[in-house]
Amino acid sequence: NCPQLELIPVIDSTNQHLLNQIGQLPCGAVCLAEYQQAGRGRRGRQWQSPFGSNLYLSTYWRLEAGVAAAMGLSLVVGVAIAETLQQLGAPDIRVKWPNDLYYHDKKLAGILVEMTGKAGDAAHLVIGMGLNIAMPIVATTMIDQAWTNLSAACVSLPSRNVLAATLIDRIHQTLKEYEDIGLSGFVERWNKIDNFLNRPVKLLIGERVIEGIARGINEQGALLLDTNGDITAYVGGEISLRGC
Ligand code: ATP
Ligand code: BTN
Repeated sequence: NCPQLELIPVIDSTNQHLLNQIGQLPCGAVCLAEYQQAGRGRRGRQWQSPFGSNLYLSTYWRLEAGVAAAMGLSLVVGVAIAETLQQLGAPDIRVKWPNDLYYHDKKLAGILVEMTGKAGDAAHLVIGMGLNIAMPIVATTMIDQAWTNLSAACVSLPSRNVLAATLIDRIHQTLKEYEDIGLSGFVERWNKIDNFLNRPVKLLIGERVIEGIARGINEQGALLLDTNGDITAYVGGEISLRGC
């Protein structure tokens, strides 16, 4: 069945727009914008969201299992987006732990999961995705890391409507699958398309920098880092992964 869909030309943030309406939204409601004045990433970072042909969308989901069960969500949504883009003609799309999509070592898209809900209650989740399709050059000076567009990754770019509809559909299917089987069904799929699998990386944890070889994720969604043969599992929102 068809989700509630709201199309907005200009908004602060599609995530914020849905967060403001929690309590009034049906599960699966979607908001899409053409331009975000305050698009955001993790921990207060900005998401550049100019007018043009990029996608900025968010969806609301009610997770009966509660906030604790939401930990692996950015990972499963990342797998869903990467696999969908691969099927739509961009075979080299990869995931980067915990919330990015990469193409040829550059950032193509980001996922932002935000939530409310008390321990023991259902979690109210807003899951946002920003996908660069064809970034206007004027907006790019603000991005302080290597980035790219889907137009570079596809021989024949699907229309924006097809992309949006297919991605929304696959994200919703994946959220249902996650409710049924949790992360276990996704670990292998993630590791198959992990941009940094078996590559040297560093983890930035506050002021600390830890170097090692990335070994994919485990059943809890933790990043596995190999430092001289010792494997340590890293979880949590304060960690950033970088290639060496
Ligand atoms: P982490 O690994 O911790 O997720 P990150 O640097 O990717 O680190 P995020 O919060 O995930 O941080 O994403 C925000 C960052 O993404 C910004 O600080 C900027 O470097 C980059 N960025 C912002 N807008 C875009 C965009 N449209 N396309 C690609 N990258 C962007
Ligand atoms: C990241 O890489 O940190 C995540 C970026 C998420 C950007 C999307 S665009 C749609 C939604 N609205 C926002 O303000 N952020 C997300």
